[in-house]
Amino acid sequence: MNKNISIITLQGPQIVPFLKHLYSLRIEVLQEFPYLYAGNEDYEIQYSKHFSHSENSILVIARDNHVNKIIGAATAIPLEEADDEVRRPFLQKGYNLEDVFFYRESVILHGFRGKGLGKLFFVEREKAALKQNPKLKYITFWTVERTADHPARPRNYKSLSNLWHKQGFQEFSQLRTQFSWPEVDKQNNALNTMVFWIKNLH
Ligand SMILES: CC(C)(COP(=O)(O)OP(=O)(O)OC[C@H]1O[C@@H](n2cnc3c(N)ncnc32)[C@H](O)[C@@H]1OP(=O)(O)O)[C@@H](O)C(=O)NCCC(=O)NCCS
Repeated sequence: MNKNISIITLQGPQIVPFLKHLYSLRIEVLQEFPYLYAGNEDYEIQYSKHFSHSENSILVIARDNHVNKIIGAATAIPLEEADDEVRRPFLQKGYNLEDVFFYRESVILHGFRGKGLGKLFFVEREKAALKQNPKLKYITFWTVERTADHPARPRNYKSLSNLWHKQGFQEFSQLRTQFSWPEVDKQNNALNTMVFWIKNLH
């Protein structure tokens, strides 16, 4: 990896000074397909209300020291502290919430992708989650479901499934929920179907 890039893992109140950077990375990166997020800071503050106040939130940041800029971030939180929409399908399927950690997002600016940072974000979050809870059994994250013929799908779009499989995750298509966010070219917040992926740690 580029020697100018440092990776810093933060937890709980340590994340607070970096929230603005996280918000702007999310707004910039997640506007792309498949999230099509028409982000704004009000939505960010609302979306992060549990994350920003939790003692157990994990934020991994990548900083380009050459230009002193945060160029990527990834987040995680115990499932127990995640939003209702995230917890609900796990409760319905009989999981103990304390066995599970939820990865919210990974966002890396163009120009810094494809250099191994995304994989490192998985490694760093897993290390931090296990340090917090050595008995952890599962890690999960969600992805938005988009139809194959979605009009905004770029012709050369490559799914990230390979990356996720290589990190030890499997798609659990029966674990799904709905979540809304402001979407590019839509008047109101769009309700989207989210599908969960799980890594079994045992
Ligand atoms: C997902 C993301 C964080 C990956 O980060 P990254 O630093 O590029 O990932 P890495 O360099 O560690 O690459 C890991 C593997 O994924 C592949 N990969 C990376 N980005 C990819 C993409 N956009 N599409 C398909 N495959 C991709 C790489 O080729 C690599 O494969 P390999 O192990 O066979 O070499 C980054 O692409 C990103 O910010 N994407 C936009 C936001 C997003 O969709 N986030 C995920 C959901 S929140």
